[in-house]
Amino acid sequence: MTEAFYQKLAKVKHYLHSKPELSEQEIETTAYIKSYLTDLGIKPLDYPLTTGVIAEIGKGLPVIALRADIDALPIVEKTEVDYASQNQAMHACGHDFHQTSLLGAAELLKTREAELQGTVRLIFQPAEENFQGAYQVIAAGGLNQVSAILGYHNNPHLKPGQIGLRSGAIMAGVEQFRVHVKGVSAHAARPDLGVDTVLTLTSIVNNLQAIVARTVSPFESAVLSVTHLDVGTTWNVLPAEGFFEGTIRTFDPQVRLSVIDQFTKVVEATAAQFGAEVSIEWGNSPKVTFNDAELTPLVAEGSKDFAQVIETLPSTGGEDFAAYQEKVPGVFAFIGSNGDENAPDWHHDNFIVKDAALPIAVNYYVENAIRLLDYYRQE
Ligand code: NI
Repeated sequence: MTEAFYQKLAKVKHYLHSKPELSEQEIETTAYIKSYLTDLGIKPLDYPLTTGVIAEIGKGLPVIALRADIDALPIVEKTEVDYASQNQAMHACGHDFHQTSLLGAAELLKTREAELQGTVRLIFQPAEENFQGAYQVIAAGGLNQVSAILGYHNNPHLKPGQIGLRSGAIMAGVEQFRVHVKGVSAHAARPDLGVDTVLTLTSIVNNLQAIVARTVSPFESAVLSVTHLDVGTTWNVLPAEGFFEGTIRTFDPQVRLSVIDQFTKVVEATAAQFGAEVSIEWGNSPKVTFNDAELTPLVAEGSKDFAQVIETLPSTGGEDFAAYQEKVPGVFAFIGSNGDENAPDWHHDNFIVKDAALPIAVNYYVENAIRLLDYYRQE
């Protein structure tokens, strides 16, 4: 990457960083991406999306999709960079960096369009943070004819120049649960005349902790955390209802299903023991981000020319990229973006992505898109 191109992309990243927009409200961001692509001679395609952009370079089959997310978070920025947020939001997950690198990749791929044997589809995806965007893109037809999809997330625990990859799960399946418990209110001095919501609820919370400890194989892993309880109002009344909520994280699709099944059984059986009514609400959250076993080594090999590729552990965070991988094979990588000892984590108000990581991310898209086009053309 030339110094001039690097400087240009750094400016784009800083501009986008200063103008963050929340999920499904990425109006200015969408307009900016469209205008940037149009200036390159790449026409944004007419997909039915309120926010986000899909465009293509090259023509014919196969089609390889490159995905970057574009939304920000409701966080007040605390960094002191001169391009800090001017809006009531913050790019505290580095999606400004992701979209900049895909714009950079678009620019390079456009100059190499004549040598492309097939199509590279650029997906600037809205609404990753609320896990809706990938579903919107899929519903809009964004995966039609796609043979494979590539994506990544910046990773502040890796240095610029490093890429973390692994076959199989790289980010967790995320479950968001909320359990409502309905007992029968009574005077605290006459619990026998009611159904104790507090005892039911806390017993369920206790019993749930046996699921990971006693039903998940020691060679697999899962996390189940109850994070919020709300029950009762005062010291001498047994309340009629309450709820608790929390999350489950898993790394294997089978373990995921088994833990969900156990969860339902434990909640219902414990409530039945006390005679309380219970209902479970599941949030719309992503499944396991699961890297294709054939494509991942190809992408690892294709990244060695410009990065240090390391075998990474999976993250317990979730990614709606998983929704694409349910439809087509895909590879999701971690691209090093900071690497300092105390680098703030994702979603932190001091979160920072180093500009120096830009060339790696751009190359990741460009080189691996070309490699996957070759792979599918020869199939
Ligand atoms: Ni993110």
